[in-house]
Amino acid sequence: MTQSSTQSAQKTAHRLRCIGCDARIAGLDAAEDFRCQACGSLFEVEYPQIFSPDDTAGRPPAGALHAEWKTLWADRRSSHAPLDRSGVWRFRELLPFLADKRHAVTLEEGNTPLYSLPRSARSLGLENLFAKHQGMNPTGSFKDTGMTAALSVALEREFSWVACASTGNTSAAMAAYAARAGMRALVLIPEGKVAWGKLAQSLDYGAITCQLKTDFDGCVAVLAELVRRAPVYLLNSVNPYRLEGQKTPAFEMAEAMDWKVPDHIIVPGGNLANCSALGKGFAELRTLGLIGRVPRISVIQAEGANPLFLSMSQHDGNQIEAVRADTRATAIRIGNPASWQKAVRVLRETGGWCEQVSEQEIALAKAEIGAEGIGCEPASAVTLAGVKKLVSLGRVLPDETVVLILTGHTLKDPEYTIDFHRGSLLTAQETTVMLAAQRSRMEALARAPLVLDPSVEAVMRVLDAEVRQ
Ligand code: F0G
Repeated sequence: MTQSSTQSAQKTAHRLRCIGCDARIAGLDAAEDFRCQACGSLFEVEYPQIFSPDDTAGRPPAGALHAEWKTLWADRRSSHAPLDRSGVWRFRELLPFLADKRHAVTLEEGNTPLYSLPRSARSLGLENLFAKHQGMNPTGSFKDTGMTAALSVALEREFSWVACASTGNTSAAMAAYAARAGMRALVLIPEGKVAWGKLAQSLDYGAITCQLKTDFDGCVAVLAELVRRAPVYLLNSVNPYRLEGQKTPAFEMAEAMDWKVPDHIIVPGGNLANCSALGKGFAELRTLGLIGRVPRISVIQAEGANPLFLSMSQHDGNQIEAVRADTRATAIRIGNPASWQKAVRVLRETGGWCEQVSEQEIALAKAEIGAEGIGCEPASAVTLAGVKKLVSLGRVLPDETVVLILTGHTLKDPEYTIDFHRGSLLTAQETTVMLAAQRSRMEALARAPLVLDPSVEAVMRVLDAEVRQ
């Protein structure tokens, strides 16, 4: 395909809509920082050929129920073609933003498991509690689904360099996909606040990794200026193509539940792109008539990094104030979330809530997810901690089907897990203020490694003590 036919195909298949002033521009006309030149807001990708303007009323487009796509998408799972084996690109009818799909860079991401959580469900009195484990992606986080989408755009547009500011997972994913594509990657991360597994990945995949002496929000500010000065393609989630990939777990969940969506999806909130992407995915399926309704989507933040929670509770989501973020769940240690307006829209449109959870609640929930034989990184565990709150507030009812989005693999942050089990994660003060029931639950789950003499007797004594308990 020639350069000009490539460009005209891109122009016709998709465009970008500003979520602030509704301006529409061609994908190729976006500024380097993906902000609207008129109002400074973010864009989202639109497909005029699939969703006509009438669709805004939520009606399926006339004569185009697209039911045959369900079979096509399912059939691709048994194909051996790399794009068909990707849980993102097998849905490519709803991702027509590449002019040539040969530019798609894939690590066969997506197609992640939907696990049941029977023990947590029982203790919460819920009939159906599931975890969509996005940590089971190639680099161990949900970022891979967005990265395959947006990095492919960078390749198609002939960039040599890609860059991101990150709390660690975006950078791991970007570094891997850039390496696959033969591109150079520049990573900006906050010094000392990125879990080891993630830092190691960025180095392993060959990215230039800069640890800036600031927090995530400080890294974002540096990068926003840098992309204006150097020809590097920005792969933070302000890049709207990222969200196109990240909407596909919504398709997978709907498919896995035989196109009857769950009642409630619970998502961790950091920079607030992921909840927005899932909301977009479900909204598109409903518009096409592939599902009958959208699930509620609720967002859970850590108490120490809770700007959306404050915005919703104090300003009804109409404005947001940046906070100085601090939480051990370093992935969501974000005080000034870029996609907050998109997130507010999803909460409003789906009837979801934003809740905050404490460090103690996160630690306990993470151990409980581990005890289910699944595991996740701390940021993902806010979902279970959050659903406990929503149940206690009567916002989740016993017969509702709930899906927690587990965003990262447990091996991302082994230090956190080891500290928890050794009893050194929380301060004495944090432990003292916990409810007695919570504290004893935590003690029951904590399993410090035992250092023993190398004898059968020593190990037998341990076994006997366990059996007697
Ligand atoms: N969970 C994990 C494991 C994450 O890495 C992130 C974000 C989130 C949740 C929050 O998602 O930002 O879309 O609301 N991590 C980014 C990063 C910021 O740089 O890896 P969000």
